[in-house]
Amino acid sequence: MKSVRASAPATVANVSCGFDIFGFAVASPADEVVVTLTDKPGVVIREIVGDGGRLPLDASRNTSSVAVIEYLKAIKSEQGAEITLYKHLALGSGMGSSAASSVAALVAINHLHGEPLSRKELLPFAMESERIACGSAHADNVAPSLLGGFVLIRGYDPLDVTSIPTPEGLYATLVHPHLELKTEDSRRVLKASIPLKDAITQWGNIAGLVVGLMKPDYGLIGRSLKDVVAEPIRSVLIPGFDRIKEEAVKAGALGCGISGSGPTIFALSTDEATAQRVGQAMQAQFTDLKLKSDVYVSEINNAGAKIL
Ligand code: HSE
Repeated sequence: MKSVRASAPATVANVSCGFDIFGFAVASPADEVVVTLTDKPGVVIREIVGDGGRLPLDASRNTSSVAVIEYLKAIKSEQGAEITLYKHLALGSGMGSSAASSVAALVAINHLHGEPLSRKELLPFAMESERIACGSAHADNVAPSLLGGFVLIRGYDPLDVTSIPTPEGLYATLVHPHLELKTEDSRRVLKASIPLKDAITQWGNIAGLVVGLMKPDYGLIGRSLKDVVAEPIRSVLIPGFDRIKEEAVKAGALGCGISGSGPTIFALSTDEATAQRVGQAMQAQFTDLKLKSDVYVSEINNAGAKIL
C-alpha cells in the first residue's frame, strides 16, 4: 500500500498583539506522521510514539485522524488511511502541538492522493481539528504550520489568510518550561470584551508589527511586540514571566511574549548569536525557579510542513 512520511513544525501564535490573527512557523520541534492508504474506508491510528500514552487512539478524537477523516469526506474518497504519529511537540506547550499533528497528517494524505487540494484549501480541515482539541477553530497555529512563514488571518468568515514577509535573519527563541497549560483553559480566562482604550493600543501595535516586519524596522517591531489583551491575564499562569521578559530584552531581544496560550515564551532577535544569548538568559530564570526548560532557536521557517 502507498505510504508517506510528513512533518509539520511548531508555531508561535498571537505573536503578542495579534490574538488569533498572527502566527509564524519555526524550524523545530516538528511532529511527524506516516500515513498509509488502505482500500477499506475508515481511518485508524496505528500507533502514537512519544506522547507517553496520553493522546487518544480513537480516530474520532485525535487531531491528526479527525483532519484526515474530514479531508477524505471532502474529496469523496472511498479509501481509508492508517496513521502512525511521532509526537515531538510537548502537549499543552503553547507551540501548536495539536496543530502540528493534524497539519502533518493532512499534508501526507493530500500527497498520497496526488495533491488535489492546495495548502490553503487544507486549512479548514486542520481548523476543525483545533475545534476538537480545544473547542475553538482558531487558525493561527495551523495556518503557519501548513503554509510556513509569518501568517495573518485577516478574517475567519470567510477565511482570509495572507503571508507577511519577514526580514531575512530574524530569529525566534522559544523557551518551553516543563509545565502544561490547556488552550481551552487559557481561553476561558479571557474577557469577552475589552475597553476601547485597550483596543486602540492593540490595533496600533498590530499595524506597527506588520509595517515593522515589511520595511523592515527593528525598532518598530520591538515597540509593537506588546499585548494588552491576553498577556496581562495569562502571564500570571507562567512562573517568572515578567522577569523573564525583562531579561530577554536586556540580553538583546527586540521583544518577548507568550507563545500561543503558553507556557512557552518566545522572543525575536535580529541575529542568531543574540537569539542564543536571549535563550540562555530566559532559561536561567526558569532554572532559578527550579523549572526545567527546553530552548529552541531558529529563523522563521518559510517552508512549513513537508513531505520527508
Ligand atoms: N490564538 C490561540 C490562543 C492560540 O491564544 O488561544 C492557541 O495556541
